Amino acid sequence: MTTPTSADIGAARDAALASIGAAQTLDDIARLDAELLGKRGALAMLKSGLGSVESIEDRKAIGRLLNEAQRAVADALAERRGALAVTEREARVAAERLDLTEYVVTPRRGHAHVVTQAWERLEDVFIGLGFVVAEGPEVETDWHNFEALNMPATHPARNEFDTLFVDHAGAPPGTTVLRTHTSPVQIRAMLAGEPPLYLVAPGRVFRRDTPDATHMPVFHQIEGLVIDRDINLGHLAGTIEAFTKAFFGPGFSSRLRPSYFPFTEPSAEFDIRTPSGEWLELGGCGMVHPNVLRAGGIDPEEWSGFAFGFGIDRMARERHQIDDLREMFTGDIRFAEQF
Ligand code: PHE
Repeated sequence: MTTPTSADIGAARDAALASIGAAQTLDDIARLDAELLGKRGALAMLKSGLGSVESIEDRKAIGRLLNEAQRAVADALAERRGALAVTEREARVAAERLDLTEYVVTPRRGHAHVVTQAWERLEDVFIGLGFVVAEGPEVETDWHNFEALNMPATHPARNEFDTLFVDHAGAPPGTTVLRTHTSPVQIRAMLAGEPPLYLVAPGRVFRRDTPDATHMPVFHQIEGLVIDRDINLGHLAGTIEAFTKAFFGPGFSSRLRPSYFPFTEPSAEFDIRTPSGEWLELGGCGMVHPNVLRAGGIDPEEWSGFAFGFGIDRMARERHQIDDLREMFTGDIRFAEQF
């Protein structure tokens, strides 16, 4: 058994304090506690050699040093245990924390789609001219979409509308369609109300078409219908002209070109002239055909009217110089944000 000296005690104490300082976890502390203060610990071993110290004075002094060293180690363990307990608790709380802040980010504010913007401006302009806004269903009967518009089953003009048919229970095949134009709203409005009528009907229409830069199988039109006493072609031309200036600006003007539609007679296409002198084809129009008035329950001897219809998407495309109609409907936010 070795005789303990104050130098041995100092070295054992310093080694013990150093390993406590290096402890990283509460488990390390538990292990060091057993190791440093247990029966096999360095200080305990030195204590067991105390009996071999010669003088009583020296034995007392060495004994005191040993006790002080053990207390210092016990204190250091307690202190480090406390510090590690705090750190470990903080780490656990941080790991278990729910980050609710990600739901509190400021939402980005969107805006209406470029087609919706054109749609709404068109409504505004026509409301300003004294029209009301009407609507009809996108899934239509063959009767409203064709028959009542003076296009019986064998009418060749039906071929120009690449029609999508809908199967549904209870209706014979081929009698339900996705409306190919907004003109069936004319019939619905005439049947629902009494003249005089001054209305526009914007909406979605469908044609069997392969999408390309200028065609989409789903697109938007706005229909106009006026029924009153003594309405003539001059009223139609004047309305188109007033609309053109209100929508595009005072530098624009319009013209009618003779054309053909089964539901109007006479019929015309209308074009608008840009300030730089270019002509753009916009849509179709004409005086409502007497057969159409009759289908709508209106007496053609008493009332007359005009109708027009044109594409909303194309107007948005012209206005913003968009090259490809398809871009308007892919939902790409980088495109949508530009308008
Ligand atoms: N419905 C026609 C089309 O889709 C446009 C039109 C509407 C023409 C009203 C004349 C009168 O092409």
